[in-house]
Amino acid sequence: MPNFNALRIHQVEKATQARFDSISIDDLSAGEVVIRVAYSSLNYKDALAVTGKGRIMRGYPKVAGIDLSGVVDSSSDAHFKAGDAVLVTGCNVGEALDGGLAEFARVPASAVVPLPKGLSLSQAMALGTAGFTAAMALRRMLENHQVPEMGPIAVTGPTGGVGSIAIDLFKQCGFEVAAITGKMSAASYLRELGADEVVDRNTLDFGSKPLETARWGGAVDNLGGDTLTYLTRTVKPWGNIASIGLAQAPTLNTTVIPFILRGVSLLGIHSVECPRAWRLGLWDKLAHEWKPRGLEVIAPRVITLQEVPAVCAEMVAGRAQGRTVVRIGGNF
Ligand SMILES: NC(=O)c1ccc[n+]([C@@H]2O[C@H](COP(=O)([O-])OP(=O)(O)OC[C@H]3O[C@@H](n4cnc5c(N)ncnc54)[C@H](OP(=O)(O)O)[C@@H]3O)[C@@H](O)[C@H]2O)c1
Repeated sequence: MPNFNALRIHQVEKATQARFDSISIDDLSAGEVVIRVAYSSLNYKDALAVTGKGRIMRGYPKVAGIDLSGVVDSSSDAHFKAGDAVLVTGCNVGEALDGGLAEFARVPASAVVPLPKGLSLSQAMALGTAGFTAAMALRRMLENHQVPEMGPIAVTGPTGGVGSIAIDLFKQCGFEVAAITGKMSAASYLRELGADEVVDRNTLDFGSKPLETARWGGAVDNLGGDTLTYLTRTVKPWGNIASIGLAQAPTLNTTVIPFILRGVSLLGIHSVECPRAWRLGLWDKLAHEWKPRGLEVIAPRVITLQEVPAVCAEMVAGRAQGRTVVRIGGNF
């Protein structure tokens, strides 16, 4: 197989640097399945890795990209054969293992999901880790008895990938949704996705008491820090908060009072590693009854591999909106 193009992260002294390299299959981390990559996508983690703003890679040099979709080129695992359409999200790809921002990927069979009927290869990447994570939050909250009658779901970081898809999913499932955003200029986008209310995060009174007036039925939090602290104080009795991200800060300065006086639950969301049955089940939901209705609004742009560094810079600056799909190769 001839050499191919890859966006790799290198360690240069104490910093990291993204470079376009021409590499061969033998340069990739080990795995049973070789995939001709059709599409990848950009998540916050990819943006941190590519800009060097966060240490995401374990080992260097490493191909970036935690998501990919494409067609199996060869497989030494009997569950897959050449020509199968597949997707991969998380599973340490683009972190400890070489990722999806390259024309070929080689991954463990345990990471590979057959492309569900109902999704194209590009739609799978419009969803990507962001969609999978939002679906995991919905699943965990439903399992912990979240119902629409409990009140609106607050979604933070709503103009981002996870937040945008979360708005769509919760709305479809009958919940009222409030988008708490730092970008009021995106209010019409958020309403188009299904937000019933758009709240300006910069003017919101976060309060300081262990319990403030209960306002939200539950919450999907992508920010952490003071925003997550605020949510613990303002979610109504028995409400759930899905803790997904740390775009604001990794800290949480709250008390146990919301948990013991309101029965609030803080649910951890970890999309990288989860039981395979959950992974297959959530992708099936995303391809069918939970398929976002606004996917084309959320992911309107498809960029090339060369454009990835510039879009990653927009993402870490908090200026991006929705999801970005990266077209890698082939005629798909
Ligand atoms: N737990 C998991 O398995 C998992 C999976 C996927 C993602 N994540 C995490 O979830 C978060 C969201 O991921 P994503 O891919 O949706 O990212 P994204 O597309 O870059 O969106 C992040 C959103 O957060 C807000 N934001 C960004 N920087 C901020 C800052 N400094 N302070 C406050 N708000 C800021 C912005 O929304 P507004 O302007 O609308 O406020 C932005 O659109 C990230 O922290 C990511 O690492 C975790």
